[in-house]
Amino acid sequence: MQLPESVTLVEVGPRDGLQNEARTIPLAAKLQLLDDLAAAGHRVIEAGSFVNPKWVPQMADSEAVFAGLQRRPGVRYTALTPNLQGFERALAAGADEVAIFAAASEAFSQKNINCSIAESLQRFEQVMAAAGERGVPVRGYVSCVLGCPYEGEVAPAAVAAVTAELLAMGCYEVSLGDTIGTGTAGSMARLLETLLAQFTPQQLAVHCHDTYGQALANILVALQHGIATVDTSVAGLGGCPYARGASGNVATEDVVYMLDGLGIASGLDLAALAAAGNRICATLGRPNGARTARALDARSA
Ligand code: HMG
Ligand code: MG
Repeated sequence: MQLPESVTLVEVGPRDGLQNEARTIPLAAKLQLLDDLAAAGHRVIEAGSFVNPKWVPQMADSEAVFAGLQRRPGVRYTALTPNLQGFERALAAGADEVAIFAAASEAFSQKNINCSIAESLQRFEQVMAAAGERGVPVRGYVSCVLGCPYEGEVAPAAVAAVTAELLAMGCYEVSLGDTIGTGTAGSMARLLETLLAQFTPQQLAVHCHDTYGQALANILVALQHGIATVDTSVAGLGGCPYARGASGNVATEDVVYMLDGLGIASGLDLAALAAAGNRICATLGRPNGARTARALDARSA
């Protein structure tokens, strides 16, 4: 199978990573992280989310994050928006792009965004209409593509149905979320075979949480299927507040190390990324979750 020549990494650490932290993160630390990530070569950074602050207090300062960030040329700073209210907040704050987020399982949809899948799609139509009027690109997410914390197995056909809806309403790409990291190379391959019968690899991205240590293998399977957009989180930060026990996304550093080994360009500087991850982990008072960053540190110690 042909691997892509280059891959776009969507850095979700400042949103997916930090949304799950128990302690309040100073605004200055968030701004430093965003600047470090752009300096390391990221061109797409999910900087925050405009959700109900009572649900996710860590993201309550997303307006201040967008107001304070040092914009670097060529970098898209994006935000998660669950509804029209979130979209209006994101645009007023200066987000370059937004993402709407649906689920392939009804139970997760209810827990995460307090409505059924069908209701969420209706809300997203409103966001799409507003985004269309203002020329704002919209990305789609589908959660629980390889398993649900409440319903267990999720059928590839259920993922395909929601993906089709999001693309039909105008999302330029759909990111497939293995929210709880239960997927394996086998289940990822089966899912992609179903999806790629209907969609092109260019319409899809993968978003693998690493709870079971399967993320790199699952990403390699996605690359082998021609998918060239991968969501990652520096230092492996994060998890989802509505999926208990789910760990962070695959660490950006580990994906870059793998891509470097495969000769696939990502535009990322591994040493700069590892330094960015070490800095935010020091602020959070936790060890760096990226195996590659730890290995580099051990080598230079
Ligand atoms: P709701 O309570 O059903 O909303 O929440 P509502 O429309 O009934 O409004 C209730 C209150 O929320 C009102 O305020 C609204 O103004 C306010 P009140 O009158 O009570 O004072 N409200 C808002 N405030 C600010 N910004 C908004 C907003 N919307 C309503 N945008 C809602 C529905 C969707 C808002 C809520 O469930 C929510 O915020 N959920 C977000 C949960 C979340 O952020 N989850 C984590 C991100 S998803 C994820 O991590 C998965 C992903 O990484 C992919 C993967 O791994 O699978 C993307
Ligand atoms: Mg996620």
